Amino acid sequence: MKVIIIGAGRVGTAMGYLLKKSGVTILGVYNRHVDSTRKAIAKIGEGKAFSRDELLENLEQANLIMITTPDSQIKKAAEMIADARFKTGNYLMHMSGLLASDILRVGTKAAGFFSFHPLQAVANFAEGVRLLPQSVFTIEGDRRGEKFAAKLAGRLGVRYHFIDKRHKPLYHAAAVVASNYLVTLIDTSYRFLRKVGLDKPELREGILQLVKGTLSNIEKIGPEQALTGPVVRGDFATIETHQRAIREFLPDYYELYQLLGRYTSDLTGNKEMKFKFEHSGGNDDE
Ligand SMILES: NC(=O)c1ccc[n+]([C@@H]2O[C@H](COP(=O)([O-])OP(=O)(O)OC[C@H]3O[C@@H](n4cnc5c(N)ncnc54)[C@H](OP(=O)(O)O)[C@@H]3O)[C@@H](O)[C@H]2O)c1
Repeated sequence: MKVIIIGAGRVGTAMGYLLKKSGVTILGVYNRHVDSTRKAIAKIGEGKAFSRDELLENLEQANLIMITTPDSQIKKAAEMIADARFKTGNYLMHMSGLLASDILRVGTKAAGFFSFHPLQAVANFAEGVRLLPQSVFTIEGDRRGEKFAAKLAGRLGVRYHFIDKRHKPLYHAAAVVASNYLVTLIDTSYRFLRKVGLDKPELREGILQLVKGTLSNIEKIGPEQALTGPVVRGDFATIETHQRAIREFLPDYYELYQLLGRYTSDLTGNKEMKFKFEHSGGNDDE
């Protein structure tokens, strides 16, 4: 198989490297800046640094054209190649979790279109190379595109699941809540420690071990059973002590604590606890 990558940043470069490792030929890369193109090629280990004209000339040689630009640039990139010559067997894909593959249909004469989204946070090339092979990918596209995508997943040795394009926004929100908002929660935890001079490496490590233990419990017994602490114990006296401390030291985080307390009460099914979160310990003006 021969591949061209348009927009090789964190995800595109890691995918290029993994595809090459699986025996695919990376024909070339096109980024807007030649420096970033060259850096991507150096990491992937093969491919030509295409100018825009060279990209358009070479497109029909590729079985797969991957658009891995930021989401905001996918349509623009698809439009850029819309008039280029394609031949039977050229497939076009992107890797956005939010957007459907329809965004690629701007007149391009590809054999099939699909989106191929890794449920993973790819912070840089090295982490992408390490984490993508363990990730679950979701696929949506037209019939031929989906068939090709499943073969691509097989080649990479990754698990995959087909999803309906109408479900992508909520599916993507699920990924954002689990990944991005977890980052915010852990940062909040560090801020609480910092406020009272406890932001020490050992305590950060302690918090991370706590999170890892919690993740392991969620994996083994599910979120409902994994819950420990004052909310599931129905211990509102402890909650009130937290509320007083947060209002004294980090009042900006009070609303977050209260909101998550309400949702955590829902998870336990404890209506009385939820009521208390809604009606007690609030701001002075509540
Ligand atoms: N990072 C993640 O955690 C993650 C996870 C799952 C899915 N995704 C998806 O993967 C895709 C890529 O994300 P990323 O995080 O890898 O982005 P990224 O690191 O910001 O890389 C984007 C690359 O695209 C190039 N580019 C930007 N606009 C372009 C254009 N108009 N034409 C050609 N190249 C262009 C940029 O280089 P130049 O500036 O030189 O053009 C850059 O190398 C997105 O669809 C994203 O939603 C990302």
